[in-house]
Amino acid sequence: MSVYCITGANRGLGLEFARQIASASPSKTTLALTRSLSSDLADLNKVSNSNTHILECDTGNLQSIKAFTSSAAKALNGKKIDFLINNAGINSAPEQTSLSIGPEDLDEQIRVNVLGPAKTVEYLLAADLLSPDARIVNMTSGLGSMAVSLSITPRKCATYSISKAALNALTVQQSGDLREKLGEGCVVVCMDPGWVKTRMGGEGAVLEAEESIGGILECVHGLGEGDNGRFFTYTGKEVPW
Ligand SMILES: NC(=O)c1ccc[n+]([C@@H]2O[C@H](COP(=O)([O-])OP(=O)(O)OC[C@H]3O[C@@H](n4cnc5c(N)ncnc54)[C@H](OP(=O)(O)O)[C@@H]3O)[C@@H](O)[C@H]2O)c1
Repeated sequence: MSVYCITGANRGLGLEFARQIASASPSKTTLALTRSLSSDLADLNKVSNSNTHILECDTGNLQSIKAFTSSAAKALNGKKIDFLINNAGINSAPEQTSLSIGPEDLDEQIRVNVLGPAKTVEYLLAADLLSPDARIVNMTSGLGSMAVSLSITPRKCATYSISKAALNALTVQQSGDLREKLGEGCVVVCMDPGWVKTRMGGEGAVLEAEESIGGILECVHGLGEGDNGRFFTYTGKEVPW
């Protein structure tokens, strides 16, 4: 029976992952993570079922990620994670360009968007909570692609774009390192959800969350060993680095 784990599941795309997984596969276990259990969890509670475990994990805080692995071990009771969706992310200074980078803004985005997914994988592996055939999805952005960014004039969201490019590089590193630890069955990819109507994407976005996440789940469920270390968009099309 598959086990899913989604960071940042209380709203936006993470919530849509939790909703679609719980409704399509009610018997599947989902760890739906939220930065804080004191957050407004009404929407997440609404889409959850008896196999959904809502756990706290602030992906910008290493102690919180560590503490989460202990609560995950209890909730999983011997089961392992088959699908880890590193979804939590921030775009905290979209107005900055490469000529006006705020040092603290860059630090924060690297901490949440890059170090968070890195340590989530590292600590789950150390706790022996990843299945040997795990699919690990790092939620990136088209803005993390050098090729896509080069085609956008004027350039957009410099610090976010830099952090997502670093997340893409992390994906490539994890795709090699995890094969050594878990074996040839595991697959690590990064995925661009498209421009989606969420708090981050804004009202002007072109896609509904339902379509983006439906496409991502279809792509993720179809991943084979040869896809390790690749970069896809929500339609399953490969994105140039
Ligand atoms: N929407 C788009 O158009 C778009 C495009 C490309 C890529 N993406 C990527 O897709 C992912 C989801 O984006 P979204 O549109 O759903 O964004 P969103 O609407 O802003 O939601 C972000 C989610 O991440 C969580 N989060 C942020 N920092 C966190 C932390 N330190 N610890 C735990 N959770 C944290 C938020 O929790 P709180 O409620 O606690 O803040 C929220 O649940 C992100 O990685 C984003 O970069 C989105």
